[in-house]
Amino acid sequence: MTVNTPTAIDELVEAERGYLAKNYHPLGLVVTRALGTRLWRLDETGHEIAMLDTLSCYGAVNFGHLNPRIVAAAMHQIERPPEALTEKLSTMKPGEALSPDEAASSWGLDSVSRGIVNNQLGPFAEALCRITGMDSMLPCSGGAEAVETSIKAARAWGYQYKGIKKDKAKIIVAHNNFHGRTSTIVSFSDSASTRDPFGPYAENAFVHVDFGSLEALKQAVQDETVCAFMVEPIQGEAGIIMPGDGYIREAKKICAAHNVLLILDEIQSGLGRSGKNFAFQHELDEGVTPDGLILGKALGGGIYPVSAFLASEELMSVYSIDTHGSTFGGNPVASAIGLEAVRILEDGAMSRHSQDRGNQLMDALRPMIAQGLLTAVRGKGLWVGIDLNPDISTPQKFCEVMAFDHHVFCKYAHGQTIRLAPPLTCTADDIDLIVEAIDKTGQQLK
Ligand SMILES: Cc1ncc(COP(=O)(O)O)c(C=O)c1O
Repeated sequence: MTVNTPTAIDELVEAERGYLAKNYHPLGLVVTRALGTRLWRLDETGHEIAMLDTLSCYGAVNFGHLNPRIVAAAMHQIERPPEALTEKLSTMKPGEALSPDEAASSWGLDSVSRGIVNNQLGPFAEALCRITGMDSMLPCSGGAEAVETSIKAARAWGYQYKGIKKDKAKIIVAHNNFHGRTSTIVSFSDSASTRDPFGPYAENAFVHVDFGSLEALKQAVQDETVCAFMVEPIQGEAGIIMPGDGYIREAKKICAAHNVLLILDEIQSGLGRSGKNFAFQHELDEGVTPDGLILGKALGGGIYPVSAFLASEELMSVYSIDTHGSTFGGNPVASAIGLEAVRILEDGAMSRHSQDRGNQLMDALRPMIAQGLLTAVRGKGLWVGIDLNPDISTPQKFCEVMAFDHHVFCKYAHGQTIRLAPPLTCTADDIDLIVEAIDKTGQQLK
């Protein structure tokens, strides 16, 4: 198959259709390159056409496509030694030391397992704990894996520290949550397409409360077999749903008063997306943290799956030697990338930019409610949900017209909601382009 020819579009779409499980329904456009906020798609004439990306791979590309700092960190980590040295180095006698000249050349370190200390993981863990305020981290390689790690930790804590009877620990979760796709996690999803037909489910292990209801939480924590409340500070897949102000602050107090852990899933809300480095920082006083924090997506800089479960010292102490592990979690490449992601966020400028551009976007979109195109605009930082007036279009159709006619790639989230989550590096002009495309698409579909 030749890439970058007109027929390649059909061939590539067909190849995906022919050989892949049908668990996604991609728009029929083929992208070949990316940089910053831009993607390039093939058109029928064989040209590659620039598009603005407002999905950021579901929040994995917060720092822009091929962010130069992320790429440099990754490239350094997988760099090979100079060609002239490779024969000598790869046949070096075990026990022999590098000469000063050899030691002066730079090359990388790929996967070595957690059976050895590597020179990247410690600095990554330290930086991530510092920026989150958490005591300890456990590196993983995908969002759902980190969620599973938190569930296991919370249950073990319940037995060890709260005296819950073996195998009886429950975790409170919110209705309309999305925490991933493993068999345990789909057990407590309200979405039929996520949950069914993948039973048997983890019955009696999860209790649901309405998202945003402190009353419901107060009731649920009364149960002595509850060890944790696990929640997204802002529900992403449910349609960028925000609880009332003070929800996480009060939830933290309620949990603490009943010896229940508060575990926040910030896989999507974290790392600058909501206008702060972490969404909990909108709510909790400086120095106050959740008991557990789950991160993923943008921690891998858009190029590598990097995730982590972070916890208080007490909660993390439930993991002892051989009780948990991950082959790729914390490998040197992942760690170098994760460390750079933290460094990008460290001075807070990226998150402030997210806040400013997000406000610009929402301010520009709100008049479209009065104009009848939208029924709601909501969000925090550069994480915006718009509800499309159902009389105008379905979100699927709207996204197609946005992409093919106006060169802005966006994706619906839930119901009539379209999510707008461009890379946090986007400019004020990019925001104007997004708004213009939405306006024009609306006019066209009216
Ligand atoms: C809040 C939240 N948790 C967990 C996940 C699962 O992450 P992954 O797809 O990397 O397993 C997602 C993915 O969208 C998410 O938004």
